Order: sequence, then C-alpha cells, then structure tokens
Amino acid sequence: MRRGDRFQDQVVFVSGATSGIGWETARLFRDEGARVVGTGRDPDRLAALAGEIDLALPMDVTDDASVKSAVDAAVARMGRIDVLVNNAGIGLFKPWDETPVAEVHRIMDVNLYGVVRLTQAVLPAMVARNQGVVVNVASVAGKRAYKKHTAYCASKHALIGYSEGLRNDLEGTAVNVVVVLPPAVRTPFFENSGYFTFDADHPGLVPMSAVEVARGVVEATAARDRQRILSLRAKVLYALSLVSPGGVDVLRRFK
Ligand SMILES: NC(=O)c1ccc[n+]([C@@H]2O[C@H](COP(=O)([O-])OP(=O)(O)OC[C@H]3O[C@@H](n4cnc5c(N)ncnc54)[C@H](OP(=O)(O)O)[C@@H]3O)[C@@H](O)[C@H]2O)c1
Repeated sequence: MRRGDRFQDQVVFVSGATSGIGWETARLFRDEGARVVGTGRDPDRLAALAGEIDLALPMDVTDDASVKSAVDAAVARMGRIDVLVNNAGIGLFKPWDETPVAEVHRIMDVNLYGVVRLTQAVLPAMVARNQGVVVNVASVAGKRAYKKHTAYCASKHALIGYSEGLRNDLEGTAVNVVVVLPPAVRTPFFENSGYFTFDADHPGLVPMSAVEVARGVVEATAARDRQRILSLRAKVLYALSLVSPGGVDVLRRFK
C-alpha cells in the first residue's frame, strides 16, 4: 500500500487497537507515515498487532495504573504523543429494565471514564508543547438514541459532551479535539456485547467496514474536524431530528 506523508514521523497512540476500528486506524496511520503505538488487553491480539505497527502495549482503560504505565512506556520509547485516538469501547444493548446499574457503571467506566483517564494522562504534555490532537471515537448513538441502547447511548452522549467541554477548555491553545461518529460498523463489537448478532438483529442494514471508518478517522484528524458523522443517512436524519425529533422517531433504523 502506498504510504502518504500527512502524518510523517508523528506519534499516534490508539486505544483499543487489537480489533475492529482501532486495528484498521492504527494501520492506516502507519501507512500515512506515522509512528504508531496501539494498545489493548488481549495478549494474542497484541502479539499480532506488534507485527503491524511500531509498538503494541497492554492497557486497560478502566485501570489508572495500567493507563499511566502504557502512556509512560509510549513516551519513553517514542519521545512524545502527537495524536491520541480514544477508540477503546464496548457495547451494551438491552432494554432499560434488563440493564442493572452495575452494567451501566461498567460501560461508563470504559466508554467515558476510560477516555477521561487516558486523556488526562496524555494531555498535559500536549498542552505544554502547545501541539496535539485528541480524537474521540463516539457514535451516531451519541446524537440520537435507539431502542435497547440506553446505557450505550448514554455513554456516547456523555463522551460527546466531554469532548465539547474539553475543546472549550483548550481554547487559546493549539491542541485540537476531534470527534468521529460512525454509524453501525461490521466488527466483533456487537457479538462482544453478548446480546445480539448484527445480521440477525439488523436484517437489511448494511454496516460500514472498519477500514472505511478508519479512513474517516484519519481524514477527520488531518482536517482537525470538530465533529465528523461518517454516514450521509445519519447526517440527514440528525439534521431532521433537530427540526422534528418526533418525526424522526418513526425511522427506527437511524444508522
Ligand atoms: N462497531 C460499531 O458498530 C460501532 C459504531 C459506532 C461506534 N463504535 C465505537 O468504535 C469503537 C471501536 O469499536 P469496534 O467496533 O472496533 O469494537 P471491537 O472490534 O470490539 O474493538 C474494541 C476495542 O476496544 C478494546 N477494549 C475494550 N475494552 C477495553 C478496556 N477495558 N481497556 C482497553 N481496551 C479495551 C478491545 O481490546 P481488548 O479486548 O484487547 O482490550 C478492542 O481493541 C468503540 O468506541 C465503539 O463504541 C463502534
């Protein structure tokens, strides 16, 4: 594959790079000339990732010590982090009354607090250098809610709110915050949530591929987009929902 040079020698740190969107995003940044650090928990997938990028590190975003140790190891080896991609995330797709509070805590601990933990570990050095990009992988579910998605939608709405607030706080610096909102994507994500399989539960819906989403992440980062919704359908439905929220509710499959 031809290497671009938009990220030549920049250090890109991707959380959740052992699978799906993170895996493809790490590889695409590598193809753009970046020096890429990818993280995750699964030892076998980390070993495979190590063959694809510069550095693969174990990191659990729910664990303060694990996050600190991965960030320290990345900086010790690469010198700095120029682009942080907060991608690690989990799904939880159940009706509200089958979703115990403990499970809501768990998804928030990964999808929101995991981002906060990692951002707080990386951002001070970016601010000190007055340079850097924080890229948060949210979801169209962070703009509109779907059936059986209460906890997941809450986590992604919160992530978008956190990202907007972060951007406000960073005003006056040259550190940018980019939010990427994919629609449904074909990765192990849904099966990993333990609740449903994509094809059985969404007949007829064509998901994006992880490579297409990774391209969106790289392009949004290069352009320093505030928010990039990665599907025209989702963009149109979101715009309509601002005008007529009830009208759009009839279109259940907004992805
Ligand atoms: N797939 C979709 O339809 C879709 C749509 C919109 C947005 N998204 C978002 O895109 C992101 C990536 O999803 P994906 O579809 O690529 O899912 P995936 O294939 O299941 O990958 C999830 C990644 O997150 C990592 N991860 C999970 N829990 C973690 C933890 N506690 N600490 C560190 N890493 C953890 C996993 O690695 P380990 O298991 O090795 O830790 C894996 O690398 C998520 O934030 C998701 O919400 C997905």
